[in-house]
Amino acid sequence: MKVAAKKDLPVCEIRRFLEPGPIVLVSSAYKGKTNIMTMGWHTVMDFEPSRIGCYIWDQNHSFGLIKASKQCAINIPTFDLIKQAIAIGNCSGASIDKFDRFGLTPVPAERIAPPLIKECYANFECRLIEFLARYSFFVFEVVKAHTATAPKYPRTFHYRGDGVFMVSGRNVSFRSLFKSHNL
Ligand SMILES: Cc1cc2nc3c(=O)[nH]c(=O)nc-3n(C[C@H](O)[C@H](O)[C@H](O)COP(=O)(O)O)c2cc1C
Repeated sequence: MKVAAKKDLPVCEIRRFLEPGPIVLVSSAYKGKTNIMTMGWHTVMDFEPSRIGCYIWDQNHSFGLIKASKQCAINIPTFDLIKQAIAIGNCSGASIDKFDRFGLTPVPAERIAPPLIKECYANFECRLIEFLARYSFFVFEVVKAHTATAPKYPRTFHYRGDGVFMVSGRNVSFRSLFKSHNL
């Protein structure tokens, strides 16, 4: 493929190319208080056991709840929830109940205390297994996962920076080109 001429890019902007995993909603709880935050900076680290690494800013109210309880749920919203996801990421749970404010329904989880978000397509129950204070980086193990049975490919949304999102769309299968252990 022919690539257009290149220019220097400030390294602080490279995230826009790597970021587009789906935006997720992280629900947490500690001492009877629950919260939700919006998160884009997460990465799959393994699948058996299933581990996810996440950057959670230490100024977020969720940071303290998750660090103290060592648990959270990662919930996958679909495009119909995009406005709520932005608003949830623009306010602090220190002063409001975000489930109540954004009309989301808390559902008891099976293996962790924080509630799952009913309106989300999938919910992953996570336990904290490692915390790197220097980078505010949390490593979770997913101990239980719930997902809607349809559609097969949910319409997730992915942040590109500057207020712009990519919405998941067309799927293309190249299955026959893969080594089976890489599928
Ligand atoms: C699209 C989007 C993505 C975000 N991604 C992250 C993230 O990966 N890590 C993070 O710490 N905050 C992220 N935020 C910011 C938090 O959601 C925001 O600081 C929120 O107010 C935290 O809520 P809390 O203080 O109730 O925990 C994101 C916000 C938006 C809108």
